[in-house]
Amino acid sequence: MTIDINLRLVEANLKTSVIGKSSNCPNEYHKVIDSTNNRLIELSKNGANSGTIVLAYEQTSGRGRFGHSFISPPGHGLYLSILYKTSQDRHLNLLTLGLGVAAANVIKFHTGFQIKLKWVNDLIANEKKLGGILVESPFVVNQEKTLIIGIGINIIPFVYDTDKILTPIEFLNNLTTKPINLELFIADLALEIETLLFYIESENFLASEIVKQWLEYNCTIDKNIKAILGNDVIFGRAIGINGSGELIIETTDTDKPITLSAGQVSIRNIDGKYV
Ligand code: BTN
Repeated sequence: MTIDINLRLVEANLKTSVIGKSSNCPNEYHKVIDSTNNRLIELSKNGANSGTIVLAYEQTSGRGRFGHSFISPPGHGLYLSILYKTSQDRHLNLLTLGLGVAAANVIKFHTGFQIKLKWVNDLIANEKKLGGILVESPFVVNQEKTLIIGIGINIIPFVYDTDKILTPIEFLNNLTTKPINLELFIADLALEIETLLFYIESENFLASEIVKQWLEYNCTIDKNIKAILGNDVIFGRAIGINGSGELIIETTDTDKPITLSAGQVSIRNIDGKYV
């Protein structure tokens, strides 16, 4: 069994005002592409406005954070990228956390299953990786930042080489016995993400609100972790998230807790478990 997405049905179900409704660049669904994020970088360089969605049936070079690959076999997952341009770039760390919450909300609605979020925004189910989110900001023009929001979710089980893929993988179809309407799922996800982006740009924005929602789903706080910063490794205990979305770590090496920013760090549990 594989899944095929009907782009027209996704579009027909969109309740958004910007996402999926770019004023000058249509949405795309590719049978095969290197990476949906790469495709949107190209489109945005050619002047695409906010909103374009790129989806793929298969990615040959799906990318994750820190140059890791995101394995994207044909018809086995959701490979989705969204282009958004914003002049509000103060809260990008929090956007990353908020996107995890958006994905978790939609997964809960469509499957009844409550996933967990591993800082920054790995999607976790049954202590395995269900998916991940990669936000890239390739350039800024006239103070407007281009954001490429890439989301990958494993859906139909596939066999993978456990010698090469060290992170155990979970699949959305294992979380529910009911069929998932993927076109509706994508349309709902687009709306959650748009609502988040508009909230972050609004005057009412409260960092604490995003942090609060993320904490409800998190599986990182109160864990002993190993943080990898390039060639350096820090051992400590994750004790919280600050108002910038950074992870606060208590270590025996420093008197005061230290903060880790999403762009620099990948974390593992000290006990060797993935979560
Ligand atoms: C991670 O796990 O570190 C993030 C994975 C993000 C994967 C998605 S799939 C759609 C988009 N295109 C990519 O090349 N990557 C993202």
